[in-house]
Parts: sequence; structure tokens; C-alpha cells
Amino acid sequence: MNQRVEIPVPVTVRLPTAPPPPSLSDGERTRLRERIKRLLKERNAVLVAHYYVDEDLQRLAEETGGCVADSLEMARFGNAHPARTLVVAGVRFMGETAKILNPEKRVLMPTLEAECSLDLGCPADQFIPFCDAHPDRQVVVYSNTSAEVKARADWVVTSSIAVKLIEHLKARGEKILWAPDKHLGKYLQRLTGADMLIWNAACVVHDEFKGLALAALKRQNPDAAIIAHPESPAAVLDQADLIGSTSQLIQAAKDLPNKKLIVATDRGIFYKMHQAAPDKILMEAPTAGEGATCESCAHCPWMAMNALSNLAETLETGANEVHVEEAVRVKALRATQRMLDFARSIQQKSHGD
Ligand code: 13P
Ligand code: SF4
Repeated sequence: MNQRVEIPVPVTVRLPTAPPPPSLSDGERTRLRERIKRLLKERNAVLVAHYYVDEDLQRLAEETGGCVADSLEMARFGNAHPARTLVVAGVRFMGETAKILNPEKRVLMPTLEAECSLDLGCPADQFIPFCDAHPDRQVVVYSNTSAEVKARADWVVTSSIAVKLIEHLKARGEKILWAPDKHLGKYLQRLTGADMLIWNAACVVHDEFKGLALAALKRQNPDAAIIAHPESPAAVLDQADLIGSTSQLIQAAKDLPNKKLIVATDRGIFYKMHQAAPDKILMEAPTAGEGATCESCAHCPWMAMNALSNLAETLETGANEVHVEEAVRVKALRATQRMLDFARSIQQKSHGD
């Protein structure tokens, strides 16, 4: 039984006000691409991109020996790659994770203003006292958090291994304090039956997917499979044929027999999903309906701040370097390294099966 305790009220999160990067002519795009390719070589740098960033950046990462991946694989790739500089195209927690794991490397980002509503919704000065009030619980934080929050955690986890980790902790008889995503937390609680105390934050993108509108779309397309990221609300997850991390959704698009797929995650993923499953018809899950604000509909406003122009500028000038205070980094490394070790152990187990 979960004890009844005060969960802090949700923190109000402001969406970015900066205008999106300017659109480019074909000539400008070609020139920027060539300049970035040259600079990556000259600076001994590799591009590590998330599936939600602009497809120009995803393509460039593929063409230059970098990676396009989910947040766990981005961390693993950056950690294993010999380049002296990691250029992380994504949001701030991804750059910080790279720095936590690789203090000897220079970590650059096209912009340091690319935040995440989950990270913003879990400020360390509120989270730490909350943890201190529950010393009997293992603190498990989603990777979408600041270095300070990771430094207070026992475990860091991403969506690709969250179910396995919570099952593991439950089997050890642990009680869990989970932060920050309430939808993912509730999903994990339902699935595993673990005793979880859940922080109250959400992803502004996934929170917009609407259950009723999704059911209507499914009625119009009864042959379609619904695939959803677990940051989506329960009304969406309850209808999903498959729930998984970004990489797992791409794999599912390939593996599921359905020709049509309704996809409840950021539309940036469609670039790789089309590549993986070229014969499939991909549809965006609906964000319109009751309670819709549609300020961030199906595309993360912070991921959208990454562009060819600011990437070239960063590589040219060395601006936007990610720094994490050493005392915080060392503490955050403990739980972050545990995540990588746990991911490796479950991978080895599945290969051994
Ligand atoms: P993944 O770990 O599945 O890539 O998710 C990261 C994220 O920010 C999803 O919104
Ligand atoms: Fe954060 Fe949501 Fe953007 Fe992912 S999509 S980075 S969870 S705000």
C-alpha cells in the first residue's frame, strides 16, 4: 500500500519564446552541411542526435559517423566514441548526461536553451527535500532531469529500460520514489505493481495526445496499430498496441504486421521510422480535442531549437559548451553509471537466453 503523502504541486513550465530557427534555401542548406562536415573533422568531433531533432541534423549525424538514437543510446554512444568533442543535438539533459559520463571530453550543443518540461518541472531545490522526507525509498529519476537531481538519485533510467529496472527493484522488495514524469510513473506502477511515490510533472508534447480523439481515429482506421511513448497519458496508453521508448517504437513500426500505424510521440521520429519501415503508412496521434492547448502539438519546442545554423556556429566558435560542477558531476555519475551497467546486464541476459 502506498502511504498518503503530500506531492508538491506541479511547477509551472514556460515554453520557449524565441522564434524557431529560420528556414533555409537549398543553397544555404548545402553550404551549411559542407561547413559542418569539415568542422566535425577539424575539431575531432562527433554528432550525437536525438530522433526528435530536425531531419537535416539526423541525416548529417548518419552521414558523418555519428548517431541518431534514443536518450539511452546517445549516452552509450558518446561514452564509447573516441572523439575529443561530442556535439549533442537534443535538449540540455542529454548534453549534461554526456558531460557527466565524459568529463575529459568537450561537450557542445547547438543551443544551451533547449530545455525539457520534465527537467524544468523537477527543480532540485524542491526535489531534494522531498527525497529527504522519504528516506525509506529508492530514488529513481528519469534521465530527463538536471545533473543536480541525478546527484540526489539512487538510479537514473530511460524509458527503454524503465520497466525492467522497476521490476528488478520490486523483486528486491524496494519502495520507490519516482520522478519526474507522472504518466510514465503511473504506467510503471500499473504494469509492475511496485510501491511508487510519483512526482507531478509531464512532458508538454506527450501530455497533449487525446484519448477520445485517438479512439475516433482508430474507429476510422480499425486496421491500424497504435504505438505510444509512455510519457503519454493513460487514456492514450490504454489504447496502445505497443508502448515503448523512441527506439522501441521504431522497431515496432518495422515488426508489427499492420500496414497503418498511429504514432503517439514527437513527429521528429517519422524520419527514422520511414527509413525503418518504408512500406508503412504513418499517422500522427491526434492532439486536438477537449483540453488541447496545442502550443507544442506533437513537436517538442525545445528540440526544434536545434538547427544547421546554430550547429555550424557552435562548432566554429566552441560556444555553448556544457559544464557540470565537478562535485555535482561526481555524485550524478554514480546513478548514471548504474543505469548503463543495468542496461548492459539486461542486454547480456537477453543475449544469453
Ligand atoms: P527516449 O529515451 O525514448 O528517447 O525519450 C526521450 C524523450 O525526451 C522523450 O520525450
Ligand atoms: Fe522533454 Fe517532452 Fe521535449 Fe522529450 S519531448 S525533451 S520529454 S519536453
